[in-house]
Amino acid sequence: MEKREELYSGKAKSVFKTDDPDRFILTFRNDTSAFDGVKVEQLDRKGMVNNKFNAFIMEKLQQAGVPTHFEGLLNDNEALVKRLDMFPIECVVRNIAAGSIVKRLGVTEGQELTPPTFETFLKDDALHDPMINESHIRSFGWATDAQMARMRELTYQVNDILKALFLDAGMLLVDYKLEFGVFSDGEIYLGDEFSPDGCRIWDKETREKLDKDRFRQDLGNVVESYELVGRRLGMNFDD
Ligand code: C5P
Repeated sequence: MEKREELYSGKAKSVFKTDDPDRFILTFRNDTSAFDGVKVEQLDRKGMVNNKFNAFIMEKLQQAGVPTHFEGLLNDNEALVKRLDMFPIECVVRNIAAGSIVKRLGVTEGQELTPPTFETFLKDDALHDPMINESHIRSFGWATDAQMARMRELTYQVNDILKALFLDAGMLLVDYKLEFGVFSDGEIYLGDEFSPDGCRIWDKETREKLDKDRFRQDLGNVVESYELVGRRLGMNFDD
């Protein structure tokens, strides 16, 4: 697999073309951003930790029957993935109220959400990723009803798999964001990444925040915490 030119550089990852038109290389950088890029820092080892964290989770999901774009780790900071045509939609599931829903609806942080909520946001930095509903998605043609139904189904399937995985290791999966796209075979696959940058994870007993809220709220030990979560789940960051 030959790495070619950079196609896109996001806030924490870059996407490179390869000599295979159906494959991209994802590079996980140390850049860490919050509040729509207002707060940005370089955190040592974060790219490596998130690359390996994502690989572990994507493999677990794949084994459990969720189609993902992940094909394999290339090195500490890079992974080979399928080239997807991404939907401009962020799918968020919440098991416990935290973050934007607390501000938006005035509910208490920590309130259990039964059943879990499913929300969609438009992926648009300039507009600060506004919340959208299925009617917007239909009217503006961002996805068909069938595609949206599939994304919702897969997002909930991921919840069943990962909630149990985290709980077995003494942690609560509070919420997370997923992004999907269509591969050349016409099927919908889970794209982007699953790492502590895009989810909330609390210790089950102490409710200590173990995810990117440590960065957003200046709690310190950000990457150390990501690594600790990974090790509790059985990940190995040493090779
Ligand atoms: O900010 P909010 O509470 O809506 O975020 C819900 C979940 O989605 C959090 O785990 C957050 O890290 C993730 N998220 C993300 N990227 C965004 C928006 C939210 O990873 N652009």
